[in-house]
Amino acid sequence: MNILVIVAHPELTTSRANKALLQRLNKNRENIHIHKLYELYPDWNIDTEKEQALLLQHDRVVLQFPFYWYSCPPLLKKWFDDVMKPGWAYGTGGNRLVGKEFLIATTTGGTDNSYRSGGDNQFTISELLRPIERTITKCSGIYLPAFVSYAVDASMDEWLEQEAIRYAEHIRTPMPVLAH
Ligand SMILES: Cc1cc2nc3c(=O)[nH]c(=O)nc-3n(C[C@H](O)[C@H](O)[C@H](O)COP(=O)(O)O)c2cc1C
Repeated sequence: MNILVIVAHPELTTSRANKALLQRLNKNRENIHIHKLYELYPDWNIDTEKEQALLLQHDRVVLQFPFYWYSCPPLLKKWFDDVMKPGWAYGTGGNRLVGKEFLIATTTGGTDNSYRSGGDNQFTISELLRPIERTITKCSGIYLPAFVSYAVDASMDEWLEQEAIRYAEHIRTPMPVLAH
């Protein structure tokens, strides 16, 4: 299985959590291609054809980002706007993503307990990620269970390393096991 990891972090140099996740993936890059949007497109001028070609070359696409204002950082939203084109990703003749696996990997400042009905953040992460989930299913992609690492800002480095191991396992787990 070829895995494309699209990373959308505006400040990876000062990141702790996403940097730790990526450092783990870098230890075993077999069949994994890491694609850092903010480094590749500092001018935000996304190469639609190149991005579409990359999607076609991979079986699974991981969208990795820090959770910002209950959503993804803005360059990833622009990536959806520029890449998921009618006639290519959806609509008449738009069948290029049919059956492709997509998986969100996100890190939060909020605790696991805060992301629930009655909790500080009121909604679960699954509920808050629904616009991205629907974008993927609108394009007939397969939306797999997300990887979420909570309360990362208050976490020790050792914990982040454990989370990174869990991440590397999660994104390689076959669909029937992940989605059972
Ligand atoms: C602009 C901004 C918005 C944020 N919004 C949220 C949020 O809505 N929910 C949350 O739990 N954490 C939020 N955070 C905290 C980040 O998710 C957290 O700092 C990040 O996941 C840490 O990852 P990093 O070490 O890779 O930067 C926000 C942080 C920033 C800078």
